[in-house]
Amino acid sequence: MNALPDIDFILFGGTGDLTVRKLLPALYRLYGQGLLPASTRIIASARTGGDDDAYRTRMRSALESRGLPLQDWDGFEQQLCYQPLDVHQPDDFRALAHRLEPERTRVFYLSTAPALFSPICKGLHHNGLILPDSRIAVEKPLGHDLASSQATNDDIGRYFQEAQIYRVDHYLGKEAVQNLLALRFGNALLEPLWRREWVRDVQITVAEQEGIGSRGEFYDHTGALRDMVQSHLLQMLSIIAMEPPPSTRADAVRDEKLKALAALEPLRGEDVLTHTVRGQYLASPAGPAYRAEAGVHASSQVESYVALTARINNWRWAGVPFFLRTGKRMHRRLAEIVISFRDVPTSIFDTPVAGIQANRMVIRMQPQETMTLHLMAKTPGEGMRLQPVALNLDFSKTSQPRRMDAYERLLGDLLKGNLTLFVRRDEQEAAWRWIEPILQAWTTLGQPAQPYAGGSWGPAAAEAMLARHGLYWHTGLDPEEQTQ
Ligand code: BG6
Repeated sequence: MNALPDIDFILFGGTGDLTVRKLLPALYRLYGQGLLPASTRIIASARTGGDDDAYRTRMRSALESRGLPLQDWDGFEQQLCYQPLDVHQPDDFRALAHRLEPERTRVFYLSTAPALFSPICKGLHHNGLILPDSRIAVEKPLGHDLASSQATNDDIGRYFQEAQIYRVDHYLGKEAVQNLLALRFGNALLEPLWRREWVRDVQITVAEQEGIGSRGEFYDHTGALRDMVQSHLLQMLSIIAMEPPPSTRADAVRDEKLKALAALEPLRGEDVLTHTVRGQYLASPAGPAYRAEAGVHASSQVESYVALTARINNWRWAGVPFFLRTGKRMHRRLAEIVISFRDVPTSIFDTPVAGIQANRMVIRMQPQETMTLHLMAKTPGEGMRLQPVALNLDFSKTSQPRRMDAYERLLGDLLKGNLTLFVRRDEQEAAWRWIEPILQAWTTLGQPAQPYAGGSWGPAAAEAMLARHGLYWHTGLDPEEQTQ
């Protein structure tokens, strides 16, 4: 704690949705745990006029209405200030400059529309606000495709060195994703199994029950592949697939993740049609059809669901399918990684132990953070019949009394200057490089988004994609899990 410098944390988009939902609550909780040094100043900024007091009052009631217990608020708000700023007004940057103190480390957090990243960086630079030890954090989406992602990275890179840039992917802050690193590299047990000889397939699911809500305009230009796969799902894939890094140093970890991403077999042309499924939800009791959502074009072809089969061409993973899927308005909220192991070579028991996906490891992020190892064991009583059993580790019941949410952890790391859980430019561009031909093939070959019932598991074609491998999607509803 003492090692932290005095920080001015400048939050652009200071009245925005993400600030209210995630960033301020996370900073507030860090404060409550004594992890936000008293010397840190949070200077929120947005176009709306107002002063420190008005902002504090507004945020207090916004957080209160979200059910946050405010027992520490009076102390926290002493560290919270407000500076109105229109990014197109040089005078406003000069006013911001007056509030900052040269000896303090500046952390700029851009929780704004990506179109504002460039003007903000320029404004900061032209007014001399960027110092050699300043940092900048940017939220996704960073680009719409490879070229626009490169352009945005170039814009930021003109004023900040790569080591100053913190690209946020909040999935990297989730406890279970971090635990994947701990499990893989803290246990010798798994390493011999963690390869093509023993793993049959990997599934990554991020299913959401919610529809697109009020984000129609953004979402209808984005779709599930860009919104979720390019970032969160490929990041998780890279952690599952990476080789052991020599240390947890940021670049050591990111070098290995990059190699895994770069080894993804490109999906192009006709292959895209057989290896991907797009879907769009229909009306259900939970809400309107995707095409009837506000901000969505009535004949939109943008996918609210995507499933795909990826392959990683390296010695560890060649031949192992990685099945990825994500969607809105699905049957239940479920985010998990399922590593399925191969069947025993031959069964000596009457019970078949092949074909029922007996051995698998499930790392779940939502709805609760757990790790479950599915094994076969003897059914008690007479005879020698086997049944699936589950060894369950519930992270909410282990060690820490209170667990950190993803943004608490990421903001804590940002304040400490630890880049490990942030995405490096080359990783992000490798992900776009793989995604882009899929987007192109969808357009040129006219891959339609298939309708699926709101509240279902997505289009039937996604089931068929796995059935071709003799497999099915895990839904977190396997009978043995229900008894846990
Ligand atoms: C965001 C996507 O990055 O992640 C959203 O833009 C999505 O569309 C969200 O809903 C999911 O995050 P979480 O943590 O709720 O699974």
